[in-house]
Amino acid sequence: MNITVIGRGNIGGGLADLWERAGHRVTRLGHDGGEAGAAEAVLLAVPGTAVEAALSSVKGLEGKAVLDATNLYGDARPPAGFASNAEYVKAVTGGPTAKAFSTNFAALFGQVAAARVRPSNLWAGDDQVEGLVTQLSLDAGYEAVRLGDLGMAATQEGLAGVLFSVAQSGLGQFVYRMAAPEQL
Ligand SMILES: NC(=O)c1ccc[n+]([C@@H]2O[C@H](COP(=O)([O-])OP(=O)(O)OC[C@H]3O[C@@H](n4cnc5c(N)ncnc54)[C@H](OP(=O)(O)O)[C@@H]3O)[C@@H](O)[C@H]2O)c1
Repeated sequence: MNITVIGRGNIGGGLADLWERAGHRVTRLGHDGGEAGAAEAVLLAVPGTAVEAALSSVKGLEGKAVLDATNLYGDARPPAGFASNAEYVKAVTGGPTAKAFSTNFAALFGQVAAARVRPSNLWAGDDQVEGLVTQLSLDAGYEAVRLGDLGMAATQEGLAGVLFSVAQSGLGQFVYRMAAPEQL
């Protein structure tokens, strides 16, 4: 699959490495923007307050399936008029959209392949992008678990504070698993 990552830092660069290892072709864009017209999937992994600037510097996003990994911390808010960054993304692209990969620590990406069981990857978004999220989660070593439709993206964006608090309360950076009892 052709994937474009917008943001090539911890999350964008980390997932790009994992997806390339799984056989995908990944184009990595940063501050300079670029072209996403050939992408079959787009990952948005820029600071949560830079989403408008980042999307405005990338051409060819119309109708694209986008996985938005951004988080909003503290007083940071999504673009005016939107409940979440992910809903803003969908308004810009008009394509199927998911909030995904926002609740996993990038520093642990290198350890996930060796995990005894697959960690979960929470996502919230459109039905049309479920297969893509499931596949790209597996290709990164995770099992996708749906939180809800795109209306739940704001809830997921707010989970970053919960994750940090758990990490700072003694556990350190962690993975998590949500599974049906028969999968334990
Ligand atoms: N780190 C984590 O473990 C983690 C986990 C879950 C979610 N997240 C979320 O993922 C997002 C990225 O986090 P990160 O840790 O990967 O950040 P990072 O390492 O600082 O990387 C940020 C990337 O965003 C790009 N960028 C910044 N402003 C931009 C703009 N205006 N236009 C285009 N690109 C821009 C930077 O481009 P240049 O390369 O040109 O500098 C850089 O590649 C954040 O929203 C964060 O909350 C992070």
